[in-house]
Amino acid sequence: MPGLIPERFIDELLARIDIVDVVQPRVPLKRAGREWTACCPFHDERTPSFYVSPAKQFYHCFGCGAHGSAIKFLMEYEHLEFPDAVEELAQSVGLTVPHEGGPARPREDHTDLYALLDAAAAFYQRALPESNAAKTYCKKRGLDQEIIDRFRIGWAPGGWDAVKRALGTTDTKTKMLEQAGMLSTGDKGKLYDRFRERLMFPILDRRGRVIAFGGRVISSALPARDSQKPGIPALPSHNSPPAKYLNSPETPLFHKGRELFALWQVRQANSKLERLIVVEGYMDVVSLHQAGVTQAVATLGTATTNEHAELLFRAAPDVFFCFDGDRAGRSAAWRALESVLPRMRDGRQAFFLFLPEGEDPDTLVRKEGMDGFEARLKQSTPLSEYFFAYLSHDVNVATLDGRARLAEHAKPLLAKLPDGAFRDLMYAELERRTGVQATPARGMPSASRRPAPQAGSAPRRTLVRSAIAMLLANPALAQEVTLPYAFAALDKPGIPLLTELLDFLQERPGINTALLLEHFAGREESAALQKLALTEFPGEPEALRAEFVDALRKLAEQTTQQRLDALIRKQSEGVLGDTEKGELRELLARKAQPAAPRA
Ligand code: UTP
Ligand code: MN
Repeated sequence: MPGLIPERFIDELLARIDIVDVVQPRVPLKRAGREWTACCPFHDERTPSFYVSPAKQFYHCFGCGAHGSAIKFLMEYEHLEFPDAVEELAQSVGLTVPHEGGPARPREDHTDLYALLDAAAAFYQRALPESNAAKTYCKKRGLDQEIIDRFRIGWAPGGWDAVKRALGTTDTKTKMLEQAGMLSTGDKGKLYDRFRERLMFPILDRRGRVIAFGGRVISSALPARDSQKPGIPALPSHNSPPAKYLNSPETPLFHKGRELFALWQVRQANSKLERLIVVEGYMDVVSLHQAGVTQAVATLGTATTNEHAELLFRAAPDVFFCFDGDRAGRSAAWRALESVLPRMRDGRQAFFLFLPEGEDPDTLVRKEGMDGFEARLKQSTPLSEYFFAYLSHDVNVATLDGRARLAEHAKPLLAKLPDGAFRDLMYAELERRTGVQATPARGMPSASRRPAPQAGSAPRRTLVRSAIAMLLANPALAQEVTLPYAFAALDKPGIPLLTELLDFLQERPGINTALLLEHFAGREESAALQKLALTEFPGEPEALRAEFVDALRKLAEQTTQQRLDALIRKQSEGVLGDTEKGELRELLARKAQPAAPRA
């Protein structure tokens, strides 16, 4: 198990580095008042809407909504995993990353596993020309030598232990083969090759290392197609033929919900990626690349996950989902739509291409060539159209009831869209189609979208929001508050969040805005917090402190008033208990105090 990086270390690291130093060498920044600005590296734009705040130690793009700490920036910009980004930042300031409950550099333990899987791929590649059946099959599917090499397609020989014998030469190596998912365990605990008599497609990670395999049977006895499509698991049965495709299981190196087949080949073939085409199958990907459509990737026998969606859009602004024209394909398309909704920031576009019944990208591109396929892509359906067409499918929008149904189904889905022009347009479209007023539900009030952080029209302010905004602007203000919080019992939106923020800051004093936001990433409140964090408080720190203390004092007063109202109501209903009577007397006295000091 990889050791966890302790949170305190992350705090210390982010306290030591300056986000401007991290961004500047990668994206040249210009000064803009207290902040720095540039054209956003995460979407295409001509006028800068990307800001880096040294005070808050975060970046924010007003165009596409990208935001985060120095760590997040490195992850996004350099396509690094979290531990690698931390490692890189730590090195830049001469810190060593400590790991809790694990070896210091656990990630390196996998080097042997990678080497072994690479050896397995090479083994399969060498076996392909030795098998007439496999060679014939490749020929029948129209695969030329160049594409076979580019995708390192191979052949898993028959028998039970070809790989085990070739690569499991020691106990350690056999254990590693097992760990890498290359072996299966039989009834009596005997280990044998997982992949036998299959055409092998290695799955590479984003650095081009082999991490898993998919293997296809080449015989023609196959179960019905629909029963084995992704997401529609075939019922296990003892006398059914082997599944058409068999994939590696989840291993320390391979999490299928996070990987995309051929993303590495796509990156090799395209220096600047404008689009990705997501198809269902290995063969579809390979055929498209062979035909010259070198932006095709596939999920690995699973539905499109949220993680896939993020991965796709991080790689390219336009994503085309291309599904087979059967029932399974259509349900996979809708699921893909659901998974991309939360990722549809402005500047990103998703399209859906539905193929004719009985066709898949492989058969089509072989019939119609690259030009034919490109022509179909040009006619694909934008997400917005598919969304409304799908939801309107079984409702009669000519009737009032039908329109109400449509609105009811659409609203929770639209609520998943991130803030932005696209979201506003989708709501407007729903309104146009149904007449039902559907304004986006905003959790916390939003600072209005502004061209530059300095020129903001003030968002609708409540005391709670102001307090949170001030706390975000200067997390050290949490030191001004002592437990128990006098406002904790106040029944108002945002109070639980304010309480949670303060608790968190008491526990981890000294952390900055970016880190505070990161802690709430993935939470429902995250977007609202992110926006409040953009509020500028131009005055002196001392003035901010006074304003903050004042806001909390007012909240405490409101709490008292709320309690007082409740007790008085109870009293009027004649249901006041004895302790409550005492409480009421005390509250009334306390309230009278400042206004009418005792003589
Ligand atoms: P398809 O059955 O559509 O296969 O499954 P395909 O790509 O057209 O394959 P060919 O043309 O018959 O060779 C699409 C994808 O679903 C997954 C695989 O990733 C496959 O590429 N799948 C399918 C499985 O994981 N297991 C199966 O048994 C079948
Ligand atoms: Mn096919």
